[in-house]
Amino acid sequence: MHQLAYFGNLSGNSERLRKQLANLFEIEFKPLEHSLDSRLGAYTVFDFDLNDSTHLLRLKDKLKDKPKDAKVVFVTEKASRLQDARAFSLGATDVIYRPVDGRSLLSKLWSETRSLADENPEPPGNNGPGVTAAADTLRGIFSAACTGAPPDPKAIHSAGDTVVGQVEEQGLAAWIDTVRAHHSQTYQHCLLVTGLAVAFGQQLGVSRADRQRLSFAGMLHDIGKARIPLAILEKPGRLDDAEMAVIKKHPQYGLDALGTVSGLPSEMLDMVVHHHEYLDGSGYPHGLMANEISDLVRMITIADVFGALIERRSYKPPLSGEAAYQILTDMGPKLDKDLVGAFRFAANLGQ
Ligand SMILES: [Fe+2]
Ligand SMILES: [Fe+2]
Repeated sequence: MHQLAYFGNLSGNSERLRKQLANLFEIEFKPLEHSLDSRLGAYTVFDFDLNDSTHLLRLKDKLKDKPKDAKVVFVTEKASRLQDARAFSLGATDVIYRPVDGRSLLSKLWSETRSLADENPEPPGNNGPGVTAAADTLRGIFSAACTGAPPDPKAIHSAGDTVVGQVEEQGLAAWIDTVRAHHSQTYQHCLLVTGLAVAFGQQLGVSRADRQRLSFAGMLHDIGKARIPLAILEKPGRLDDAEMAVIKKHPQYGLDALGTVSGLPSEMLDMVVHHHEYLDGSGYPHGLMANEISDLVRMITIADVFGALIERRSYKPPLSGEAAYQILTDMGPKLDKDLVGAFRFAANLGQ
């Protein structure tokens, strides 16, 4: 958790802001004068009337001593270039306009989350309605997760339903082709896993309600990654142990993000927090054993591993369906043998 000092008069929405930033920052609100006597930390916001020159000279001196790489954001009026110029001349590293919104403030303070939350998930070219709906929904839920706001289960449910329809109508191969054209690795991954999970459910003949659950879980399973710095999440190449330890927090982060959403079925939370568990107990975060892992979670895990292998990444070509399926079978006791057998249809997917 990072400390954020907020100096000035934030009228009315301090609690909302506190909630919106709760995943990453602990905010302390203080009167402007306190900034003149305290040491500035790594993250500071100044929110006061820049036309009032009472403290400006002392503030400018203070800001000369700000820590290296500190983020200092001034709140200004949108139409006032003069205020923006004054803020930068005092030592601001960025400005934000009134009224202050948590998500925009977060993007100024925390550039790693900005790129993921703000990335446009709209793939170029022709998208089916399911890809567009699912990509829009993903953007919404990742943005919400970045600011600590609960995602909207109704929107996810309806996008999930559209994916089920599209995969069943046009087939998994067409879905994968469209999704692979997508430039964001994380969104691409979630969309691939969603399509694979739905097709897997179809293959096994599970009920439409279960296929919708799988679709919903495919979109949500990695929502905790919204809190992982993009530099780690999309690092080209191998992660070191410390980076891997950060990545392994994403199932718990996902549960934190969704745990407060009312009306979300518990099996959905189970899929989010346990999709990296293996039947032999070697998975994370809880090291569950076979009998503790539900069938739906086992299916999402298989779709997840396979989806990661066939993704298109900037630094490596995607594996063919055949090669990816071979890796699944080589994982032996980690995955459900019968389910891996039923997933064989995915081996026929081309490059
Ligand atoms: Fe994951
Ligand atoms: Fe995943």
